[in-house]
Amino acid sequence: MSDNRFYITTPIYYPSDKLHIGHTYCTVATDAIARYQRLRGREVMFLTGTDEHGQKIEDKAAEAGVSPKEFVDKIVCGDRGVLDLWKLMNISNDRFIRTTDDYHVSAIQKIFKKMYENGDIYKGKYVGKYCKPCESFWTESQLVDGKCPDCGREVQDAEEEAYFFRLSKYADRIQDLLENTDFLEPRSRVNEMVNNFIKPGLEDLCVSRTSFTWGVPVDFDPGHVVYVWVDALSNYITALGYDNDKYDDFDKFWPADVHIVGKEIVRFHSIIWPAMLMSLGLPLPRKVFGHGWLLLDGGKMSKSKGNVVDPYILAEMFGVDALRFFLMRTFPFGSDGNFSNELLIQTINTDLANDLGNLVSRTTAMVGKYFGGQLPAGCKTWAEPQEVDTQLISMASALRDAYQKDMDTYAPHKALEEVFKVIQRANKYIDENAPWALAKDMEQSGARLAHVLYNLLETTRICGVLLTPFMPESMDKLFAQIGACEGCRTWDSAGVWGSLSDHATVSKGENLFPRVDAEKALEELERVAEEAKKAALPALEVEPLSEEHVDFDTFCKNDLRAVKVVNCENVKKSNKLLKFTLDDGTGTHRQILSGIAQYYKPEELIGKTLVAIVNLPPRKMMGQESQGMLISAVHTERGEEKLNLLMVSDAIPAGAKLC
Ligand code: ME8
Ligand code: MG
Repeated sequence: MSDNRFYITTPIYYPSDKLHIGHTYCTVATDAIARYQRLRGREVMFLTGTDEHGQKIEDKAAEAGVSPKEFVDKIVCGDRGVLDLWKLMNISNDRFIRTTDDYHVSAIQKIFKKMYENGDIYKGKYVGKYCKPCESFWTESQLVDGKCPDCGREVQDAEEEAYFFRLSKYADRIQDLLENTDFLEPRSRVNEMVNNFIKPGLEDLCVSRTSFTWGVPVDFDPGHVVYVWVDALSNYITALGYDNDKYDDFDKFWPADVHIVGKEIVRFHSIIWPAMLMSLGLPLPRKVFGHGWLLLDGGKMSKSKGNVVDPYILAEMFGVDALRFFLMRTFPFGSDGNFSNELLIQTINTDLANDLGNLVSRTTAMVGKYFGGQLPAGCKTWAEPQEVDTQLISMASALRDAYQKDMDTYAPHKALEEVFKVIQRANKYIDENAPWALAKDMEQSGARLAHVLYNLLETTRICGVLLTPFMPESMDKLFAQIGACEGCRTWDSAGVWGSLSDHATVSKGENLFPRVDAEKALEELERVAEEAKKAALPALEVEPLSEEHVDFDTFCKNDLRAVKVVNCENVKKSNKLLKFTLDDGTGTHRQILSGIAQYYKPEELIGKTLVAIVNLPPRKMMGQESQGMLISAVHTERGEEKLNLLMVSDAIPAGAKLC
């Protein structure tokens, strides 16, 4: 194992629904750290993937009427699925694991067997509740008001045969690991783990189930499938080739340098995972970092609450890099943060459009205007540096080290804050030196002007290098604009003031970060969200069939007749009612009022043959008499009610009885 390698992972996502901005946050953060490590010259293995087994997926697939594999394939590989999202977000993972991959499945069987054979997995009984009609086994916590969550009926005590992992055996070693090393961060999560889970007594963990089949089968005991966490956590080693021939990187990359995980799964990563590795006799990962949640209106985003934020919409509207940047700049990585569109727009406008965007466009424009895009050679140095020069240069020169400290302690938000302090200082430096005033007398002040502009370009370059992990595509464009060669986009060069050639070719290019019109953008977001909500509703809904019988004689009392529309007009002062004059075959006209004005224009109905029930007692609507009711068909499309009058063949004469 060489010291130069760096193994970093994200959690593997449940493809039970589309991923939202919270998942994106976690993956973008991991990507930024992985890119930072590459910038540092490390050989990085960055793993992400999907966690595709379990009851939830089995149930959802059944609901959708497809096989579990078809169901997850669509969410992982389908249009705007997980793979598409990571591609859009410019995620640089080196590997992608799906727990349904063959090599992973067979490796899990081997891992499970190893722990069984060394005595850490044993067969026992899992006590819970059973719903007889549904033939379903439930845990106490799955019940709804103490009843079956599926059918709502009474449940009874039951036992299910299951395998257990001897977690209790490892309690002391885990407590020591958490309390006396920096294995788990932020530190605040250590107390939570020790006080809430270890001190009350670690119980052995149920690691197999017989109540569903969508999982890795226990090969030596058919009927059991490996219960989710053994399957899921092991991805971090199977994806390197542990117990399989698909890959051969285990010796090179294990142990992991860091598992980045959300706070609700810190327990699994900091207690169960190290215990499993201890059982397998494997080295432990160097660190688990538990980040916070992105909240919406102070609460967790969830599909059921209907308040998930779609990263596709935001990335398409504001740009991938702007979204990546916002997520990393705004929320302290270890804590929860409140997401809002307003905050996103504000961050884009302040940091990107105003501070960074202006620095780049003002500087490149001035190099173009005053020097034709190329500063004179030798402008790098200035015989008598002024106070403002020294301030800017020393800040920019010290930036890389401060940034490194923050990145190495998983505080990307702080690293970005450091970068933006320097960007703000550079903007102030423009105002202090007033280049436009210097430009008025090029003979006298041209050399000074060139030096000022060089200092700005060089500061921009250093900031650009350090922003690369966060906004890779935009920084490439920025480097092209300021004429930064390959050699001065590196980590080493970010620590050396003066790396940029003073003779570089500078060109003012496209505006890297256009200002967002907040009002317009918010309106547009609202419209898109409304549309998305509608699109998520069922395409077609009809009322369920009535379970109540009507006896034949009663039914026959309905007198249904074909009627011809002689005239049809809107009822004055009503936006609902249409007034029909109908030929019902009796020789006198019949008048019926019907509340369907929103569906039809009166003139399009004249001459049509409809069906009316004619023996209802007459009633008054808006002061007019209605002698019966027209029959129509109703259904719902994407939440919107639709109505179609029942129209029959014009060959049917007025008055014909329907029976
Ligand atoms: O937990 N803010 O998968 P998952 C921040 N399959 N992070 C969020 C978030 C939010 N609003 N919502 C979700 C699983 N996440 C398991 C992992 S690992 C061996 C198995 C994060 O799809 C969440 O905290 O439910 C977690 O780290 C990740 O998304 C995956 O969540
Ligand atoms: Mg989860």
